[in-house]
Amino acid sequence: MSGRKIFAAGNWKMNKTIAEAEVFAEKFRSIPVRDDVRVGFMVPFPQIPAMIRAFAGTPVEIGAQNVHQELSGAYTGEVSLPMLKELGVNCCIIGHSERRAYFNETDDTVNQKLRLLLKESDITPILCVGEKLDEREEGKARTIVSDQIEHDFEDIPKDLAVRTVVAYEPVWAIGTGKTATAEQAEEMCAYIRTQIGALYDKATADAVTIQYGGSVKSGNAAEILGQENIDGVLVGGASLDPEEFAKIINR
Ligand code: PGA
Repeated sequence: MSGRKIFAAGNWKMNKTIAEAEVFAEKFRSIPVRDDVRVGFMVPFPQIPAMIRAFAGTPVEIGAQNVHQELSGAYTGEVSLPMLKELGVNCCIIGHSERRAYFNETDDTVNQKLRLLLKESDITPILCVGEKLDEREEGKARTIVSDQIEHDFEDIPKDLAVRTVVAYEPVWAIGTGKTATAEQAEEMCAYIRTQIGALYDKATADAVTIQYGGSVKSGNAAEILGQENIDGVLVGGASLDPEEFAKIINR
């Protein structure tokens, strides 16, 4: 046993209206879930206040799916850290592969966002890394992931780095129904931990929470969460259904 607490986070992506989020919250709150698991929902910006209200007085954390790297300015359509702090979010995804693929997110901007979240707030960053299918097939998966980790953690001291949740999400397993095998997921999460150890030290590597994400559902959650170096899951599609997500938590 690693002693690290399991963290099950839902990533709703661009799904659910506020009314639908409220229905979800009411249903989810009626389902008993184990209390030794950290639970969070990363929801679209407009749903954040309603979800924070719906889960007030519970340990469930509500977070965002992105933040801009500047504190304010002429960035039409973006949301800043002071705005997220004012809302009272607990977590924020950064560097999701969909943001990297469709919105020009680079390791430079991810690094700026990680530094900002860690230095200017108590918000838990959920930093997504992962290789694409062709990169895995070409035997480059480890190189891609280690380059991301190295770049994303640049100029971040270890006392701050330790607060980061790293989510290993192989791009080929996201939304495809194609889960990495538990062995593939464990192998890369162990590698990420070793790399954090090399960047910082073993105590930091041992303390960091590492999630796996990519087609996680109730049927594969137990095997994935049973791996030594996997401390949680980042769940897209299956987090939209309160019963299915509760089954993942209760696996
Ligand atoms: P998925 O998405 O569970 O629908 O594959 C995971 C993610 O992108 O965070």
